[in-house]
Amino acid sequence: ALPYDLAGARIVISAGGTREPLDPVRYLGNRSSGKQGFALARAAAQRGAHVTVVAGSTNEAGEPAGVDVVHIEDARELADEMTKRAADADAVIMAAAVADFRPITVNDTKIKKNDDGPAPIELTTNPDILRGLVQSRESGAIPSEVVIVGFAAETGDEHGGVLDHGREKLRRKGCDLLVVNAVGDGKAFGTEDNTGWLLAANGNETSLPYGSKTLMASRILDEVHALLPD
Ligand code: C5P
Repeated sequence: ALPYDLAGARIVISAGGTREPLDPVRYLGNRSSGKQGFALARAAAQRGAHVTVVAGSTNEAGEPAGVDVVHIEDARELADEMTKRAADADAVIMAAAVADFRPITVNDTKIKKNDDGPAPIELTTNPDILRGLVQSRESGAIPSEVVIVGFAAETGDEHGGVLDHGREKLRRKGCDLLVVNAVGDGKAFGTEDNTGWLLAANGNETSLPYGSKTLMASRILDEVHALLPD
């Protein structure tokens, strides 16, 4: 039986990919399936949490039982939703694949073909939502007790790369927990299974056995539970 240890905890989870518009019909997107975020949402709801998923593009059909789902399109909408909802949350989990860049201009009308060939797409940097949430907590804009969890998709092998990059990212982002996914060679993106490490700001490091995203979700939630105030 699942533990009912998250009863009443308010957990906000971002999932899926962002779509950065170019014109009314086109966008820049990514291959995130939303599977890990939705697996977290289902597992947290089963353990008694009040769960809101802020979802971008996903391969998920329908909405999990007992979970509120809010839909967003691009990174700035996601930033607004997460910042607003973090104020009333006990934990915030950034499982979404957020576009680092977006087109500088969004055409009001569909971009036309012309004889000069395509115009270059100029990009600008999106806000780092995870970093922003940590800064909001530092400034007091969101409560100091909110547990903040980030994800990192890193390439490399077990001898180096993945873990070192993860440790560096944990420090740079300032979140409480970083879920490090080993990616590349067909690992993690859009797959059923996942592997990696859980790195905590308190120095705890747990290696995650290769397994389903559901299993990964339950390990992540064990750590989130341990960080929640009694
Ligand atoms: O820096 P990197 O993209 O590898 O960090 C990944 C983590 O940061 C994920 O938790 C992702 O949801 C979050 N992120 C974000 N805003 C961005 C880019 C990534 O919150 N613009």
